[in-house]
Amino acid sequence: MPTLRDENGFLTLGGVRLIDLLADHSTPTYAYDLDGITAEARDLRTAFDDAPHLVAYAVKANSAGAIVRSLASQGCGADVVSGAELQVALGAGVPPHRIVYSGVAKRDDELRLALRVDGQGILAVQLESLEEIARIDAIARSLGLRGQVSIRMNPSVDFDTLDTHAFIATGHDEAKFGVARADMSDALDRVLRSSCLELVGIAVHVGSQFTSTAAYVEAARVAFEVAREARNKGASLRFVDTGGGFGIDYGQGCPVRPCDFVRAARQAQRDAQLDDLALFVEPGRALVAAHGVLLARVLQPKVSGARRWLLVDAGMNDLLRPALYQAHHRVVSLEPVEGPQETWRVAGPVCESSDDFGMHSLPSVPPRAVALLDAGAYGYTMASRYNGRELAPEVFLRGGLVESSTARQPTEHWVEERLRAGLL
Ligand SMILES: Cc1ncc(COP(=O)(O)O)c(C=O)c1O
Repeated sequence: MPTLRDENGFLTLGGVRLIDLLADHSTPTYAYDLDGITAEARDLRTAFDDAPHLVAYAVKANSAGAIVRSLASQGCGADVVSGAELQVALGAGVPPHRIVYSGVAKRDDELRLALRVDGQGILAVQLESLEEIARIDAIARSLGLRGQVSIRMNPSVDFDTLDTHAFIATGHDEAKFGVARADMSDALDRVLRSSCLELVGIAVHVGSQFTSTAAYVEAARVAFEVAREARNKGASLRFVDTGGGFGIDYGQGCPVRPCDFVRAARQAQRDAQLDDLALFVEPGRALVAAHGVLLARVLQPKVSGARRWLLVDAGMNDLLRPALYQAHHRVVSLEPVEGPQETWRVAGPVCESSDDFGMHSLPSVPPRAVALLDAGAYGYTMASRYNGRELAPEVFLRGGLVESSTARQPTEHWVEERLRAGLL
């Protein structure tokens, strides 16, 4: 459990009393435990034993330099979905030969960047449509390069097997992601015919926050089946990438651990007798979510008849998941919990009804400050300045101390920027 109460009942993360952070940091503020994140990566890598593999951290989950650097130091690569994320990964020390680039609609300049990095390009641009194969072929030709690519396939997993929220299920027939299973033979032929492209991998990613391995394994089996087909057609494949999506416990329980997904994918690989290929996985959430919290001050209660809201200074612009996916993040007091508790509906200041963090058991006398737990993934990276709100600063903890933090971006800048817009 990354957040713990110390002997006096104060909430801690990475050995730091979170209430103490508020002496130097305004709220809302994200705080992350870098030790917990690196331990998570170390633990996951043990599930591969000595087999060739890559844990390509999905940078979209949390792109903070300190986090990407910490994971790179554990031998992780990166899965990026934009040119900007690619630059973060490179800047944080992930070597180009450990970076894969996914995404259904990449710009020409982003593809050029991926092909040209270090004169060699990244490990693989993951192509997601027949049309993209033609585009990257033309770009590689115009640059006079041979680009390494993999094909991300949509394995067409039955929607009901994808036991997750519809917005984060990507491996079914209606999803925009990946080359359809029915088009894969054509896609393989097109890449293999190109003198400017080298097919190095087959990839799938069927969704996020899975709490069982069923859909993951089903997709992995299809990926290995297609890898076999690619080999039979003459491809010199190096890897199969079975994607991310490992679920975490947001408080409702999660019977599987990240290692279970890796072990299940390895079994699918052995069954396909393709052990000589490297196995890649692309976890984001599972490495970082539980090791980050969003800290908020309580602004005031609002009591109206039987309705009791606790209004905090963090909103849906800081943590969008509840509004976007009906996600539930536990909200707990930073201070010792004493006296009677009751159920409060915790809500933020943003002018939207969906700016609502749900019902939580908290002291009847409202605490000064709270933490929204498990906010390390898809928190800050989805934040916006909606309603002219500031982007929350981030505090990075290591060895029981604050190692670094980012500065608050004052609202005045936003006001000036909006007033200037269109004037130049
Ligand atoms: C292509 C790809 N890989 C990996 C991930 C990471 O997923 P998760 O954070 O659930 O592990 C995503 C997330 O949407 C993704 O789109």
